[in-house]
Amino acid sequence: MQALKGTHDILPEEVYKWDYMEGVIRAVCSRYGYKEIRTPIIEATELFQRGIGDTTDVVTKEMYTFKDRGDRSVTLRPENTASAVRAYLEHKMYGDQQVHKMFYIGSMFRYDRPQAGRYREFHQFGLEVLGASSPLADAEVIAMACEIFHRLGLKNLDLHLNSIGDRNCRPAYRQKLIEFFEAKKDQLCEDCRERLYKNPLRILDCKEEGCKKASEGAPEITDYLCEECHNKFEAVKHYLDALGISYTVDPRLVRGLDYYTNTAFEIQYPPLGAQSAVCGGGRYDGLVEEIGGPSTPGIGFAIGLERLLLALDMQNLIPVPAVNKKVYIAALGEDAIAAGFKIQEELRSRHVIADMDLQGRSLKGQMKQAGRMNAVYTIIIGSNELEKGKAVVKTMETGTQQELPFEEVADYIVTEETNSNRL
Ligand code: HAM
Repeated sequence: MQALKGTHDILPEEVYKWDYMEGVIRAVCSRYGYKEIRTPIIEATELFQRGIGDTTDVVTKEMYTFKDRGDRSVTLRPENTASAVRAYLEHKMYGDQQVHKMFYIGSMFRYDRPQAGRYREFHQFGLEVLGASSPLADAEVIAMACEIFHRLGLKNLDLHLNSIGDRNCRPAYRQKLIEFFEAKKDQLCEDCRERLYKNPLRILDCKEEGCKKASEGAPEITDYLCEECHNKFEAVKHYLDALGISYTVDPRLVRGLDYYTNTAFEIQYPPLGAQSAVCGGGRYDGLVEEIGGPSTPGIGFAIGLERLLLALDMQNLIPVPAVNKKVYIAALGEDAIAAGFKIQEELRSRHVIADMDLQGRSLKGQMKQAGRMNAVYTIIIGSNELEKGKAVVKTMETGTQQELPFEEVADYIVTEETNSNRL
């Protein structure tokens, strides 16, 4: 049996990397006032159809949707924004008129063609701010994404920024785009020909050569923004300038989810190649209403953790954790093993990392194992020791040995540790 295509195991030897990333992220979140939210991995399909948009690739092609045994259509979450907003509504968080800042870390599922940096089950860290319409919130969220990368030491990232307008100004732009692409319909890929009337902005984002070529000279959204959207975009840029955050205005950045309004952004790490976006996000002022709640502004982003990990590995930025220093207990014979087992438990309850053989090795084999594990102390209990009721405690670094009654061993090691700091 093998893991499903596009899914992967994170093996015990790799988990430290994830702990490290998540540790840095959590520390930044707490400084910016974000609290964690954990939502179910499975939701009613309708949530994503309404939230993400039923003409998006994610909803039409990539969702893991099935009927449960009660004949309800359910979906493994392809992203977490819609679920966070659903929870915000369900728990009436809007009732206190406060800004809510939430973050999440977890698995998302998209049935996409797997390749380097693209998986069917992947992990995101993301955050959402609900209840803040000020462009200052946009700038703060973008600054926070940059701060996370900065804390991790990641360099050579590109921030792409755009405004995709709102329901007042986007329709006119959409119409202009349809007119523009209608004349070039034959040059478009099959997907884009379908998108032409449903979701023409997505054509700008298509990676097919023909579509890229057809997009040359396409009208740019930034020329069609209404005054309000234009001013908001200027304000976001102004705040980013004030922090010295550099960005490229990219009028082709449209994002793949329909809920966005105004600010849209992506942070790319070009060496990752085709899947270079490590972070994507934007404002979604219509989403809460779309899902059935009161009109509430929202903004957020998500970082793909597999891609972040690839980038950190490429720049060699993940510190290898120090090897745990331990005590090894080598014992032979049932009663000796029982005595060692008791010592092991006592050491562990006193915060010492202790280990003993579970494979029936000979005493010699156990001593070798102690060496392989770089044990700081080895406690030896053979038949002689059992008779005397004493264990041999060997300090591995110096080779010195001494005999101690079983019940004094843990005390000795804990005191030694306080004095020598070997463990
Ligand atoms: P998204 O751009 O679809 O946005 O995904 C965000 C990030 O997740 C991407 O930039 C990428 O790093 C990672 N990602 C997406 N799909 C895959 C995949 N198949 N394999 C590996 N990594 C992937 C969202 O999901 C929005 N919910 C972000 C957001 C939050 N917008 C507002 N709030």
